[in-house]
Amino acid sequence: MTEDDATMILPTVSGGAAGGPADDTAVFARVNDPAAAGKALIELEGVGMTYPGPPPVEALKPVDLRIDEGEYVAIVGPSGSGKSTLLNLLGLLDAPTAGTYRLDGRDTSTMKEAHRTQLRAEKIGFIFQSFHLMAHRTATENVAMSLVYQGIPKRKRRQIAREKLELVGLSHRLDALPTTLSGGERQRVAIARALAAGPSLLLCDEPTGNLDSKTADSIMATLDELHDEGLTILIITHDHEVAERALRAVTIRDGQLREGNHLHDDHAVSAAAAGTLVMPKAT
Ligand SMILES: Nc1ncnc2c1ncn2[C@@H]1O[C@H](COP(=O)(O)OP(=O)(O)O)[C@@H](O)[C@H]1O
Ligand SMILES: [Mg+2]
Repeated sequence: MTEDDATMILPTVSGGAAGGPADDTAVFARVNDPAAAGKALIELEGVGMTYPGPPPVEALKPVDLRIDEGEYVAIVGPSGSGKSTLLNLLGLLDAPTAGTYRLDGRDTSTMKEAHRTQLRAEKIGFIFQSFHLMAHRTATENVAMSLVYQGIPKRKRRQIAREKLELVGLSHRLDALPTTLSGGERQRVAIARALAAGPSLLLCDEPTGNLDSKTADSIMATLDELHDEGLTILIITHDHEVAERALRAVTIRDGQLREGNHLHDDHAVSAAAAGTLVMPKAT
């Protein structure tokens, strides 16, 4: 069986309710039955993304997905499967070429760009693998700068920045330049920046991808705390330990979504197909 075969016989989030295996039923009930769930923060209906090309690339096949306020979701998938495409859509950095995306009840598909930008600044914090800090600005300035377009006076911006840096454990590094900070500290500055505007959604694209495992663990512990305080977190990762910490996983493969973490199954299938599956040593 090829990888494609394996993908085809498994249900997708959008289309699998009818024929999926029994163990997916509860998940579909939650996805499809608003009465059974909390308040929706993210609602995708038939959302798809085709990059124009040439040749056109259907990076995300039309999908339904609902994420409620307070959820902690990991999106897992191999390289090129459409993870960043999905994150860019959810983060209002890109508009889908098909379907409807409601964020906190508001239909973003019909919004003007300025309105989308405003909603993004208000509602969404981003954390990326490579931190994206301004090299010649202190930690405080990096965080405060993110509030410049919100009409908040400078003093207040700096005060918020200091508070958020303290929250992520950097009260002793407020005036440090990024070059003098460790990888974990840089990512903490980025988290403080993401939190500055008081978002309801944190979108993280491989936030631990550039960190050693111990540092990654402490960053994940910080995300856990933020989730405990009510933040909705969506994290893209292909790190199993990171995915395990989320309360819900969604697998993306070839632009198709499927509930659950199936990255490992898929790996086992493809590894077996390639004859490279490592078996335990016989004793
Ligand atoms: N701007 C673009 N134009 C055309 N194709 C793109 C563009 N961005 C991504 N793609 C393609 O869409 C697919 C999904 O990409 P991406 O979302 O970046 O995957 P991932 O983040 O999972 O590695 C890939 O085949 C990629 O080559
Ligand atoms: Mg990517």
